Amino acid sequence: MTIRNILIHPDPRLKKVCDPVPEVDAKIRKLADDMLETMYDAPGVGLAGPQIGVMKRIFVIDCADKEETPDPMVLINPEITWTSEELNTYEEGCLSIPDIYEEVTRPEKVRMKFLDVHGKPREEEFDALYATATQHELDHLNGKLFIDYLSKIKRSMITNKMKKLKKEKARA
Ligand code: NI
Repeated sequence: MTIRNILIHPDPRLKKVCDPVPEVDAKIRKLADDMLETMYDAPGVGLAGPQIGVMKRIFVIDCADKEETPDPMVLINPEITWTSEELNTYEEGCLSIPDIYEEVTRPEKVRMKFLDVHGKPREEEFDALYATATQHELDHLNGKLFIDYLSKIKRSMITNKMKKLKKEKARA
């Protein structure tokens, strides 16, 4: 397994719509392993393909509590099939926007169909943190970031902060 480099906003690759995975093969399974490794190393609860520069419709999550056993999930070509009318507000963060946390309101529950890491079609309902994480990661596959839900002023403040961070990182 390889820990991949995580792209930091702003980056044009984080704004693009990703391509479907045509076949779940050994290469995709290796990619999924790398993504999980990279997510745990960061550490984070979710990571999507474009965040490591892979423009494919795949993301990984693990929303288990720290004390619980890990619950790694790989979702390939995910699609929302249902969302609840009830909404929920969570403070979200993103590995591509480090150390920024802002409240985002989304459907409280969501159902998604996807292929698992074995290429098997599945459909699952997510709630609580899982619902937030799966919707946040699916957004990544459509070139959308959680800061896109914030006001224009807040978003440009965060973007400027990230530009500064990237400059500092490049100098280091
Ligand atoms: Ni994110």
